[in-house]
Amino acid sequence: EEASRAEKAALDGLPALGHALSSCQRCSLCRFATQVVTGEGPEHAPLMLIGEQPGDQEDLQGRPFVGPAGQVLDRILGEVGIARDEVYLTNAVKHFKFVSKGRRRIHQTPDRNEIVACSPWLEQEITLVRPRLIVTLGATALQAFEGRVTRLGVTRGRVRQDHGRPATLATIHPSYLLRLPDPQRAQEEERRFVEELTMAKDWLR
Ligand code: URA
Repeated sequence: EEASRAEKAALDGLPALGHALSSCQRCSLCRFATQVVTGEGPEHAPLMLIGEQPGDQEDLQGRPFVGPAGQVLDRILGEVGIARDEVYLTNAVKHFKFVSKGRRRIHQTPDRNEIVACSPWLEQEITLVRPRLIVTLGATALQAFEGRVTRLGVTRGRVRQDHGRPATLATIHPSYLLRLPDPQRAQEEERRFVEELTMAKDWLR
């Protein structure tokens, strides 16, 4: 029923979709999160980036990629020469999932049910924006887009085009770079991330 709500809202464009999303109760995450974090960007952006879910800062501010991972993403988009405001930025899951530890809220990876519950919204965003290329950031976004678990290691780094779907390129999530303890390894992974986003930029030319 809420899936068809997503479809109806989509007929009226992204603002209506965002409005419908704001009262979503398709899974239990809405009970704990501050607010829905809708995608952001031009209605017909040629490039869509899909993240995992809002983090602590995104949940509080109501905007995608404004916390630490967003800062990494901004820096790297700048390096590659992709303007953030020309990209449609969204997430596979639209509510923050966390556990509380004292006053801190610790991110939890969304599970399969939550990804599936949220997928009609993502599908409607894709239908409305009609990007030429979708870059999935990390394993959750890849899983959400593919509708099944897919190994990032064997999928990443090349543009794939399945009939009837927008072209996609899988890469890592920027927060992965923040979690690597070895600076040399982090540098290596960052270089590859830059390379893959450059590939996306060049493909769109
Ligand atoms: N990580 C994500 O995947 N998305 C955000 O919006 C922020 C952090």
